[in-house]
Amino acid sequence: MCGIIGYVGPRQSQDILLAGLARLEYRGYDSAGIAVIDGDGGLGMRKRAGKLSVLRDDLASTPLADGTTGIGHTRWATHGGPTDANAHPHLADDDKLAVIHNGIIENFAELKSELMGEGVTFRSETDTEVAAAMIGREYARTGDLVSAFRAVVSRLDGAYTLLAMHKDHPGLVVGARRNSPLVIGLGEGENFLGSDVAAFVEHTRKALAIGQDEIVAITPGGVEVTDFSGAPVEVEAFEVTWDASAAEKGGWSSFMAKEVSEEPEAVANTLRGRIHEGRVEIPELDGMDEFLADIDRILVIACGTAAYAGMVGKYALETWTRVPVDVELAHEFRYRDPVLSPRTLVVSISQSGETMDTLMAVKYARARGAKTLSICNTQGATIPRESDAIVYTHAGPEVAVASTKAFVAQITALYLLALHVGRVRGAVDPVAAVEAVTELEAVPGKIARVLETEQTRIEQLAHWMADTRSVLFLGRNVGYPIALEGALKLKELAYIHAEGFAAGELKHGPIALIEPGQPVFVVVPSPRGSGEMHKKVVSNIEEIRARGARVIAIAEEGDVAVLPAADEVLRIPLAAPMFEPLLAVVPLHIFAMGLAEAKGLDVDQPRNLAKSVTVE
Ligand code: F6R
Repeated sequence: MCGIIGYVGPRQSQDILLAGLARLEYRGYDSAGIAVIDGDGGLGMRKRAGKLSVLRDDLASTPLADGTTGIGHTRWATHGGPTDANAHPHLADDDKLAVIHNGIIENFAELKSELMGEGVTFRSETDTEVAAAMIGREYARTGDLVSAFRAVVSRLDGAYTLLAMHKDHPGLVVGARRNSPLVIGLGEGENFLGSDVAAFVEHTRKALAIGQDEIVAITPGGVEVTDFSGAPVEVEAFEVTWDASAAEKGGWSSFMAKEVSEEPEAVANTLRGRIHEGRVEIPELDGMDEFLADIDRILVIACGTAAYAGMVGKYALETWTRVPVDVELAHEFRYRDPVLSPRTLVVSISQSGETMDTLMAVKYARARGAKTLSICNTQGATIPRESDAIVYTHAGPEVAVASTKAFVAQITALYLLALHVGRVRGAVDPVAAVEAVTELEAVPGKIARVLETEQTRIEQLAHWMADTRSVLFLGRNVGYPIALEGALKLKELAYIHAEGFAAGELKHGPIALIEPGQPVFVVVPSPRGSGEMHKKVVSNIEEIRARGARVIAIAEEGDVAVLPAADEVLRIPLAAPMFEPLLAVVPLHIFAMGLAEAKGLDVDQPRNLAKSVTVE
């Protein structure tokens, strides 16, 4: 939530800041602003409520004076609504200092009254302006921006990334982070700060990850990182594995359309390097065999779509490891008194690696002696850095706010983890493991087939249903979390009522919702094998059909039993039951996107949301 960029170097900074903000806009898009120290030593600032395009148009008609030091911000409002005044940057020290911020300063009210007592006046309702005023007050005492930061951060509670620059120090941007993301981009004679590498990947792929509770000062010639007490710290360097073109639309109508089309590749890339002669070996888990052989419980923590991936993963983890698995929403987990032991493996799942609820849950679990493993899609993000082990998904940058390709990559990573742990524990039958690997390797091709054969039809269906007010989703077993995912996507993208249910739960209440014409998507399990679940789900379809529901079934190719029962059948290729979720979710992603588009909505930036939820 909120995107941040800082630049120092020889180039004019405005275009660099605006291009960086465009790549960060998925983090928040209710207002945006930049500040620049110009060639004459003045500090120019412009900020506007609305999407980045509003700021861009404003700057195009009335440009700021050029300058080579600048900071920029795109906001997701926390304290104070999305107005020009509440947009960042915020100014202090007689408008000589500009500050931007991501996070929440929890004790801002008491700090604000302290400052007001000293006669400070405020122009916004934000917590950020309080931090700016405090930095300004300290700076006025010492004339040293880094030591002003050091004095102020010790007084701030909560989560924050703060960036500041002062007109008396062109060529210097100072930042600090606590529980909020910040990375450094290393250029030639220029340096960058960003909420994530997307801010600067167009200019450099060399990055440094800043740790928790650290302060960084960048100048064109160097980078200095210290902890909050002022002691120098070692920073971890990494090379960004994707280039700027991966985070561009490349001719697609939306990032979401592009990312759905990349679902096959996301699975293939997550598998790469982790299957050796038909068996799963995750190199990142080398040295953990003894621990993994001894675990007595796996706890999966995540939020939203990532939690649904965790629910799918539970089936695979229990089947292949024979270890009991619980899946819990990260924000619920931390606020009870969970039972954890050194034999508990806590698996967190996060595309962004920055979700505050998940981060806090990981820290909580670790502090109570559990071992933590992060499944994450973003290199250098905070959650993997705070975990004992990391299994990266390699879905590539996900820009659209709704998670799609990361979801299938997360399920893939969980299946790999289950097969790895199952092998280490001797819990998975070797023949079953080889079959599972063969199935996994076939998934990218099968997803590609769903996209090829069904996409146009699903988009048409979505178009016809543009006026629909409510859609229900049913699934059973591994299809249940897929029903939940289908409903979440529709809520967040098309703003209509959507609910996912376990099909077996229908008669325990939800069937009362069925009235003539009610659209219901049903994820139908395969009729092959025992086919028992298939029969039950087909009976569920008949029950709702008898009450007037309009049924859209997602069923495997060749399943004829479903034909008389459903109004529409969307086909997925044959796969063993465990692998069906990876295929069945694709039509639901396309449908939600199609319906939102049919309603004329922005599928990449749905209202009220942000890609990375860095506040609790
Ligand atoms: C829904 C969606 C969210 C995220 C959730 C967790 O489409 O994208 O529900 O899945 O906010 O985000 P990460 O995976 O970044 O922790």
